[in-house]
Amino acid sequence: MKLTLALAVLASSSPVFAGIFSSSPQLNKRAELAYSPPFYPSPWMNPDADGWEEAYAKAKDFVSQLTLLEKVNLTTGTGWASEQCVGNTGGVPRLGLRAFCLQDAPMGIRGTDYNSVFPSGLTAAATWDRGLINKRGYAMGAEAKGKGVTVLLGPVAGPLGRAPAGGRNWEGFSPDPVLTGVSMSETIKGIQDAGTIACAKHWVGNEQEHFRQVGEAKNYGYNISETLSSNIDDKTMHELYMWPFVDAVRAGVGSVMCVYTQVNNSYGCQNSKLLNGLLKDELGFQGFVMSDWQAQHTGAASAVAGLDMSMPGDTEFNTGVSFWGTNLTLAVLNGTVPEYRIDDMAMRIMAAYFKVGKNLDEEDVNFSFWTLDTYGPLNWAAGKNIQQINGHVDVRENHGALIREIAAKGTVVLKNEGALPLKKPRFLAVIGEDAGPNIWGPNSCDNRGCDNGTLALAWGSGTANFPYLITPDSALQAQAIRDGSRYESVLSNYAWTYTQGLVKQANATAIVFVNANSGEGFISVDGNEGDRKNLTLWKNGDDLIKNVSSLCPNTIVVIHSTGPVLVTDWYDSPNVTAIVWAGLPGQESGNSITDVLYGKVNPSGKSPFTWGKTRESYGTDVLYEPNNGEGAPQQDYTEGVFIDYRHFDKADAPLIYEFGHGLSYTTFKYSNIQVQKSNAGTYRPTTGETAPAPTFGNFSTDYDDYVFPADDFPYIYQYIYPYLNVSDPKKASADPFYGEEASEFLPPHALDNGSQPLLPASGKNAPGGNTQLYDVFYTLTADIENTGDVVGEEVAQLYVSLGGPDDPKVVLRDFDKVRIEPGQTVQARFTLTRRDLSNWDPVTQNWFVSEYPKTAYIGQSSRKLDLEAKLD
Ligand code: NOJ
Repeated sequence: MKLTLALAVLASSSPVFAGIFSSSPQLNKRAELAYSPPFYPSPWMNPDADGWEEAYAKAKDFVSQLTLLEKVNLTTGTGWASEQCVGNTGGVPRLGLRAFCLQDAPMGIRGTDYNSVFPSGLTAAATWDRGLINKRGYAMGAEAKGKGVTVLLGPVAGPLGRAPAGGRNWEGFSPDPVLTGVSMSETIKGIQDAGTIACAKHWVGNEQEHFRQVGEAKNYGYNISETLSSNIDDKTMHELYMWPFVDAVRAGVGSVMCVYTQVNNSYGCQNSKLLNGLLKDELGFQGFVMSDWQAQHTGAASAVAGLDMSMPGDTEFNTGVSFWGTNLTLAVLNGTVPEYRIDDMAMRIMAAYFKVGKNLDEEDVNFSFWTLDTYGPLNWAAGKNIQQINGHVDVRENHGALIREIAAKGTVVLKNEGALPLKKPRFLAVIGEDAGPNIWGPNSCDNRGCDNGTLALAWGSGTANFPYLITPDSALQAQAIRDGSRYESVLSNYAWTYTQGLVKQANATAIVFVNANSGEGFISVDGNEGDRKNLTLWKNGDDLIKNVSSLCPNTIVVIHSTGPVLVTDWYDSPNVTAIVWAGLPGQESGNSITDVLYGKVNPSGKSPFTWGKTRESYGTDVLYEPNNGEGAPQQDYTEGVFIDYRHFDKADAPLIYEFGHGLSYTTFKYSNIQVQKSNAGTYRPTTGETAPAPTFGNFSTDYDDYVFPADDFPYIYQYIYPYLNVSDPKKASADPFYGEEASEFLPPHALDNGSQPLLPASGKNAPGGNTQLYDVFYTLTADIENTGDVVGEEVAQLYVSLGGPDDPKVVLRDFDKVRIEPGQTVQARFTLTRRDLSNWDPVTQNWFVSEYPKTAYIGQSSRKLDLEAKLD
């Protein structure tokens, strides 16, 4: 039984450590690269943190009763495929705590049955509807709970969407940090109100799939030895990429997942600046940090850098050895990892558990991620413990109706020359593979790794099995039959003879369905290694549109995609009478698009990203080729905060549809902007100190007490335990350097446990930073009149110019979705906080309001800003 690994307790080759302690020639080269400064010690939890008091009181009672082995058990996954979920920790059966089940993901419960498939994050964001986004979160949290999931591995704010071709942008919400921040907050509240721990991921700088993992990259033939480094400066980090995570922390998120990539040349799951400094100290995050799957690269180093849970627990899938488990036990026993740190990990994990209302009363996990068979091995990798592992529990409730509504309200009408809404068309010709089914079945491609039939969900770990999938073809046909229309469809992009024959017929209304897909890096579809290769439509979609519209003067285009596509070649053709972006709608796809096309739902979705004219017009892209020899590819975020519309505005780059654009079947008129100033007072940096690090309980130092109790239960192959195989620690560690003083290889202050100064931008007892950042500076209102003849919903958007030479022209800061009857006027309301009007100062490490004149704009999109007011 091999329970340990040599490098596990050593700081290893973490660049953070290497940068400080080693003088190898390799380092001189590193010194020229972006650098992540060390930040130690790891901040301990604050039992008085707002919203966490009760959870921490319960956690303290619980953790105080634990042995060291039990604490370690909470922190370390039991290994890939060791039990039923994608991630499983050890439990504490003695005290009635069932092992945690961690399960993907952001569109529904992955790999099981009788679950729902929700619209993607991107589609949810396109609703700009806080209530619906919250309901989506709640429904997902409820489904997770019903399956026995403890932690649902979403929502996603990294990727934010720096690169329009980024493979996983659809799992997240929008390249705008405010829209994403609001969506994160509402989703997290929903998931956790339903009794499931949410996980804000991937913290941070996870903007592309290429080179996120060395093994994956090698499989594609790239010769690299370290993962990509996202090189992000402090200001950009604060003003852009961190922003939505701040909202997640403020919303009380229970867990955060750290990234595969390096950030400023330090691995995300042992980057002390990211985990200790920004997340736990500045933001006061009180939950736990888990590693992405195989993103942990060291034992003690990651522990002191702020990691709290190792996932899935083994060093790499199915090695049977762990950086933690046995090695964490040893590291605490010999003082390499301070006692307070293991206690802090356990406290954070249990506080998140109690915070969402769990009370040692979780039902058993009733599914297996590894198979849909009813019976099979509970310990999947080991093939042990055959029993019923799938209860096939139906957790869908009536979520189908919600899914239909969100997807309809997240559908964006980009162009409409009077073609929509459809009114009993005489003859509807539906064209394109994207309207029809995957003929192998909706769940046929593993992790949805193909692009067959209609695109309702992209590929990777962010997927779930469809309980059914309503195709556009089936729903539109049903509607056509009800209306007495003639209906025919050609569900292929290449059946040109038949298509031509159809769309040139008299009275034809042609709807062409096209798509563009992407996903997670472990799957490549048609040469798209997670990230898209380009921004064009798949399967000759452009030609299909051009061909159909050359014959049919009433051609409506519907796009399902994971982000922007180039519509440049055909969008302004007079024969293309409408363009509709339907995102990734989930299981009710056909019903939702039918609701919009026929005006049963008046469209109110607004584009959560910009539609550029060319790929280059975005200014930022995926790094497709290694650029640092075999070393870590270096991706410098030199554009700073200028992504998506901020870039287009600055560069005056050509675009077709702007961020925030979306048409309705009615029209709205904006007037009467009013600004009311509040007396927010002066900003005071937080001062003072934390309490010293607390510890909870004590533990035996007799190594005999930690040996695997072979008489009590059988060892399961490849399962990660907290035990030692022999009582001699040196032998148990299998580490030739065992016994070296921790202080010799851990960074300065890593072992400190005395009071620590509070950071000026931190919030004392308030998660989410200095509380004064949320002081309201201005309340704004605007009147919006529905000037058409149907009821409609409008997303009124508030943008601000911060006024400085380095600031974007405008930044979104708030929005209000209002429902207005024809002829009526409704007042939309917005607030601007200190945070909304501040910039980050890397020198003082704090926010400040610059002296530049600030202006507020209110309007229908980032470029239709009819109302304007100076903010004094
Ligand atoms: C890797 C993905 O990056 C992450 O998002 C997911 O939650 C884990 N795998 C588990 O499947």
